[in-house]
Amino acid sequence: MKAKILKLLQEASDRYISGQSLCETLGVTRQAVWKNIGQLKEMGYEIVSVSGKGYRLVSTPDRLYAPEIQSFLPEDGFCQKVECHDEIDSTNLRAKQLAELGEPEGMLVVADKQTAGRGRRGRGWTSEAGVGIYMSYILRPSLPPSKVSGVTLVTALAMCQAISQVCGVQPLIKWPNDVILDGKKVCGILTEMSSEIQYVHYAVTGIGVNANQTEFAEDIREHATSIYLQTGKRVPRAELTAAFAKSFGEYYAVFERDGNLRSLVEEYDHILANRDKEVLVYHGMVEDAKPEDIARGIARGINEDGSLLVEIDGTLQAVRSGEVSIRGVNGYVE
Ligand code: BTN
Repeated sequence: MKAKILKLLQEASDRYISGQSLCETLGVTRQAVWKNIGQLKEMGYEIVSVSGKGYRLVSTPDRLYAPEIQSFLPEDGFCQKVECHDEIDSTNLRAKQLAELGEPEGMLVVADKQTAGRGRRGRGWTSEAGVGIYMSYILRPSLPPSKVSGVTLVTALAMCQAISQVCGVQPLIKWPNDVILDGKKVCGILTEMSSEIQYVHYAVTGIGVNANQTEFAEDIREHATSIYLQTGKRVPRAELTAAFAKSFGEYYAVFERDGNLRSLVEEYDHILANRDKEVLVYHGMVEDAKPEDIARGIARGINEDGSLLVEIDGTLQAVRSGEVSIRGVNGYVE
């Protein structure tokens, strides 16, 4: 009910909406509307009520609340359930737990802060309160396990579209897991799955967004930035979360229908950061690479499996995510 009230108040923009019309549209009593408006006010939504006119939404708190995220989502869309936490160890861990308990595909777990945020390759993910977005989607793809890595690419595509729509700036993808602005990382993706050899029980795609951070720890400062630092505008986190959730549902439906990325390759390549640039292909960890583990080539785009096509010594080679890391010849991207 709160999500629906918020949606109606947002749609009314700076106009008042009468209590009567809220009751009629929602099919509930005046008392129910009044009670829910009271709870929204307690949550920090500034809603003024004027007798004879009705209610008007003046401002929203910078919090990640499920009703607000849902208020931006279509009722019949992919994301049917949102669970929000002020603090949690890791949204990926929570999403996996919920998937084990049988929660459906399309459930989103969101946190304002993580105490044990997980990055790729056993690294951590700094997850301070009030500035980032930490979220994980539960998926149950009807695809073989070998195809699930494509989810990461779908996630990156959806996040680029969401950032562009909500923040008015076009990010690029550093294949396969990072979304970047001005050559620095604003979003990282960690996809995990539980499967048998031929059958996927579930997958979880976890996304960490550097939304409103103003500073970063020394060890990541060189490669990390936030959307706020790049645009000078504070990111409405609930709105960006919802824009991503909606966009992801749409791209994921295409990916699942095709069983591969063929319908998305062109759009992906268009925002591929390293496209037609020289790259270094590291087999194994970048940090411990020996010269023989590194190949130099030109990134040409992805194929329908989501592998990166790199031209090495005049031959196009498909390199698979999970097996290699890509760097620019002079640094993280370029
Ligand atoms: C990376 O190493 O770039 C991937 C980082 C993924 C971080 C996100 S934050 C939400 C979700 N929960 C986690 O513990 N990790 C992912």
